[in-house]
Amino acid sequence: MVTRAGAGTAVAGAVVVALLSAALALYGPPLDAVLERAFSLRKAHSIKDMENTLQLVRNIIPPLSSTKHKGQDGRIGVVGGCQEYTGAPYFAAISALKVGADLSHVFCASAAAPVIKAYSPELIVHPVLDSPNAVHEVEKWLPRLHALVVGPGLGRDDALLRNVQGILEVSKARDIPVVIDADGLWLVAQQPALIHGYRKAVLTPNHVEFSRLYDAVLRGPMDSDDSHGSVLRLSQALGNVTVVQKGERDILSNGQQVLVCSQEGSSRRCGGQGDLLSGSLGVLVHWALLAGPQKTNGSSPLLVAAFGACSLTRQCNHQAFQKHGRSTTTSDMIAEVGAAFSKLFET
Ligand SMILES: *[C@@H]1O[C@H](CO)[C@@H](O)[C@H](O)[C@H]1NC(C)=O
Ligand SMILES: *[C@@H]1O[C@H](CO)[C@@H](O)[C@H](O)[C@H]1NC(C)=O
Repeated sequence: MVTRAGAGTAVAGAVVVALLSAALALYGPPLDAVLERAFSLRKAHSIKDMENTLQLVRNIIPPLSSTKHKGQDGRIGVVGGCQEYTGAPYFAAISALKVGADLSHVFCASAAAPVIKAYSPELIVHPVLDSPNAVHEVEKWLPRLHALVVGPGLGRDDALLRNVQGILEVSKARDIPVVIDADGLWLVAQQPALIHGYRKAVLTPNHVEFSRLYDAVLRGPMDSDDSHGSVLRLSQALGNVTVVQKGERDILSNGQQVLVCSQEGSSRRCGGQGDLLSGSLGVLVHWALLAGPQKTNGSSPLLVAAFGACSLTRQCNHQAFQKHGRSTTTSDMIAEVGAAFSKLFET
């Protein structure tokens, strides 16, 4: 307990110092005192919120135990991967394993399967997504899966998207949690009804994907000065589906609460970082729903899971950047998952 509080304070301190120096550099001496006070009050408050929410994430993590059998800590399915894109589904699926899932499946187009298998012997790869039976082929696995991550490396081929639509429908019918990213979000922007009101869905749009969804669902441009309000409104308009807007700070809402994750990352953004987020979120969503609302102190389990995945991704980015600087890539970030996880959640 003592070391946990210590680590939290150290991280919090670093954030305050970074923010204050940024403020001072920007505004110069006359505004110093005022800004400093305003900043430290506001930041101290949001850092306390962050630390409280991290504590809730720690509550949902299942203890490692020798009495459990394989598969109990999570069997995750990634739906994505086509001829053009094979990296994204690999990154999402391997991230799920590294975070603590026992098994990670990839349901991809047939051309992508040998490539993804060759990246890793640790994944189970099903070359079914472009088959006429795709929906049935995935559905028969659903009773054995705890969560689906839909979209990494999916592409926009009509036939594939039709199959994914069917997969989302059967997943909903079986109450399987779904994390939707990348071209999965493109599909949702075409047909918001697919996930409208589904409380076990989490959407993880970047800025472009967010604007497209906002446009499609609220039929008007968003107010770029009010990102909290925009995320809240999109979530509500989708029937309180959890939305995670990725950005300089990640903004999360379930239509009721808005959380901000500003865990220190780095200014390096590489393609693939979103796959680390969606893959780890698949596992955390399963753990959070398993733990239930008592463990999350009344907050939405999905929101707590999303906060955990955002913090973890940013911490991985931070650690990888310390070692590799500009040359940091997603593989370097994934190599940090173990250390980042224990720093945030097990210290
Ligand atoms: C749990 O909820 C109570 C009441 O809302 C709040 O006072 C407390 O700070 C929360 N604890 C954590 C760890 O978030
Ligand atoms: C979403 O949450 C808001 C705030 O609690 C509530 O007013 C609204 O009725 C909810 N919408 C749905 C569809 O449940």
